[in-house]
Amino acid sequence: MLGEFVQAIENRLTAVLPSKSNYSQSLVEGMRYAVLGGGKRLRGSLVCATAYTLRNSYEEAIDSACAIECMHAYSLVHDDLPVMDDADMRRGKPSCHMVFGPAMATLIGDALQPFALNLILNCESLSAEKKVAVTRTLATAAGYTGMVGGQARDIEISGESKLKLADIRELHQAKTGALFVAAVEMGRLIGDSTERECSADGLRRFAAHLGEAFQAVDDWLDCVGSTAEMGKPRGQDANLAKETFPAFLGEEGTKAYAEKLLASAMDELDALGFGRSPLAEIAGQCIHRMS
Ligand code: IPE
Ligand code: IPE
Ligand code: MG
Ligand code: MG
Ligand code: MG
Repeated sequence: MLGEFVQAIENRLTAVLPSKSNYSQSLVEGMRYAVLGGGKRLRGSLVCATAYTLRNSYEEAIDSACAIECMHAYSLVHDDLPVMDDADMRRGKPSCHMVFGPAMATLIGDALQPFALNLILNCESLSAEKKVAVTRTLATAAGYTGMVGGQARDIEISGESKLKLADIRELHQAKTGALFVAAVEMGRLIGDSTERECSADGLRRFAAHLGEAFQAVDDWLDCVGSTAEMGKPRGQDANLAKETFPAFLGEEGTKAYAEKLLASAMDELDALGFGRSPLAEIAGQCIHRMS
């Protein structure tokens, strides 16, 4: 069902992203540029898949799926800035700051954050209670205790002495894992009903394993992947002397580590009786990929 989720998310994003502004046309064009035309939509698909697994429908999850994709797209725009990873390519296109300039790209990323949260708050198919819970989940995961916290740690950790694998795991769990955990939790909040309460803890463990494994594969691809397939420059981590899984485990060791985490994620799904759900399909795609 991944293809179906991706299409639904793509259609909705195309419809809801602004295309006209009284203040700055570049700003809204940049928002569309950053979000549309590429991206695997894995986080959004996890929102849809979790809701679907619990309730057999995902329509009410689409705006929230779009919201997490906008939040993720902003994180990529800022991650690529010259003052951060200084990457000139993203999703097979010049990165946002190469087209709009670093100052406007910063603002494009800034604008995508409240836009993302408003997508949830304005969603007509969710109750007020659910909107608050879903918005809180995304806002918390994106902030200083989650993704941005991890990005800050990513900057500061380089060059620290006596680093352990546990330090790298913690960093990756924050910078990438937090949004994966949020995606599944958002889907659970939308899809869960009081008649059929699902184990939030089991889903959280599933998503945490998956998020960490996803970043391990990202680090592995940075060593062995191709720029053309990934649509972003290979070898960025080595150039920036980033602390990555391959630096600790080697290339093969990193791939094996990701597979082990995927197996743990699948065990969690099996325990919940979701071993054949769309969540299992997406989990496989998160790890077995070359882009
Ligand atoms: C890239 O994420 C950033 C990381 C957290 C590793 P994705 O590989 O999911 O990027 P898109 O959305 O498919 O471009
Ligand atoms: C970035 O990690 C994670 C984010 C929160 C954006 P990376 O710096 O490894 O992501 P890529 O490789 O540029 O996509
Ligand atoms: Mg980075
Ligand atoms: Mg980067
Ligand atoms: Mg990377």
